[in-house]
Amino acid sequence: MKTLTNQEINSWDNAHFLHPWEGMADHGQLERTSIEAANGIYVTDQTGRRLIDGPGGMWCVQIGYGRSEMGEAMSEQARQMAYFSPFSNTSSVSARLAREIADRTPGDLNHVLFTTGGSTAVDSAIRFIHFRNNILGRPEKKIVISRQKAYHGSTYLSASVSGKERDRLWFDKADELAHFLPNVNPWTRPADMSVEAFCDARVADLETAITTLGADNVAAFIAEPILASGGVIVPPQGYQRRCLDICRSHDVLYISDEVVTGFGRLGHWFASEAVFDIVPDIITCAKGMTSGYVPMGAAILSDRLVNEISGKNARGATFSNGFTYSGHPVGAAAALKNIEIIEREGINEHVREITPLFQERLRALGELPLVGDTRGMGLMGCVDCSADPNASDTLALDFAIGGRIDAHCQELGLILRPIVSMCVFSPPLVITEGQCNQMFDILAEGIRRTTDDMVREGARLPDRMR
Ligand SMILES: Cc1ncc(COP(=O)(O)O)c(C=O)c1O
Repeated sequence: MKTLTNQEINSWDNAHFLHPWEGMADHGQLERTSIEAANGIYVTDQTGRRLIDGPGGMWCVQIGYGRSEMGEAMSEQARQMAYFSPFSNTSSVSARLAREIADRTPGDLNHVLFTTGGSTAVDSAIRFIHFRNNILGRPEKKIVISRQKAYHGSTYLSASVSGKERDRLWFDKADELAHFLPNVNPWTRPADMSVEAFCDARVADLETAITTLGADNVAAFIAEPILASGGVIVPPQGYQRRCLDICRSHDVLYISDEVVTGFGRLGHWFASEAVFDIVPDIITCAKGMTSGYVPMGAAILSDRLVNEISGKNARGATFSNGFTYSGHPVGAAAALKNIEIIEREGINEHVREITPLFQERLRALGELPLVGDTRGMGLMGCVDCSADPNASDTLALDFAIGGRIDAHCQELGLILRPIVSMCVFSPPLVITEGQCNQMFDILAEGIRRTTDDMVREGARLPDRMR
């Protein structure tokens, strides 16, 4: 195959590749950086420039890029047996992966429903819950409670329970199935409110919603332990546990969406129990499950949920949900190798060791005048340069800030991909101390340069800078 020139990549991309979250006004006119190679925590663009990958792909490249072992495991599986139909058969590689995952989940979460990614994991989890309630003879119990700023995916159902306002603007959604609680970001609380009081209020939101909607109508609460693409929102301490208790007391299931927090991001296979002291009814995962080497996801269901509607309780039902590629052998081979590498290299332990440095460097950016908030946990972080987190009229300014920081950081050797004016970080988990310092040095310089630009150009600055 002939090598494409930079111009060809750009024009073919613009003409034929409709990207996720494409701003349609600019469609066909963008000049995206083309990533052509990657190794460790670095990606290399079409001009041969090496950049640190701050977001770790899309929160997914846990073990780093360019692992030949991963390529070998996948190619060996593809040569031996690239596919089997999960509708009628099974295979040792997929059965083994299901077992390895069940061994690492908390409580009795032992049933792995394999999917093709995170959206389909969330979608399948909700469909399973609806299916279960139908079998249990309570077809009214269908509403899923979610939260503002949550992101759970891009299928019709997973998007319907996603609460990022701007993403919902132009799309239809299953409004009758979803209910949203207010933002749980402590930064947005009134100045005279303590974090503890804020936590009480946000927990009360859940209970009020369940009682107002009627527990007989509410099927589940879905929550990312930390809201990732909503801007690394870390709810106040104890929030998750208290929400689980409320769910239990109203017979509402708890889906912990660990698509981002699973597979080591917070230093554990899963964060629900290890970090947040909850054993949910369902965990959804994807991304880090294969470190992004190949698409795969899963909804992991508790024994209780499955057993209650199995065997003599099944009422003849068939769980008619699943995918051609459920438990795909090449994906399973990649996931097994990924687990092996994480274990062998002590990557979870490494994350726990390097977290204090990562979080300290992140917080230090809060000293810069353009920065409104810094927050994070484990190897997840966000530098929020929103002009005013509660205002809607500062959006153009926010986009300008994010775009500028991104451009400066790329010049300096760091890929950011800002979410409006928020720079989110989830680097490959194998990042070293030196690389971590280098990443934050670049970001600090990128923010300083952006501030200088804005002052020089007389731009409208966030209130706190005037
Ligand atoms: C928490 C969470 N859930 C679900 C998804 C959807 O995953 P996917 O893009 O693999 O469909 C994402 C994607 O970013 C996510 O962050």
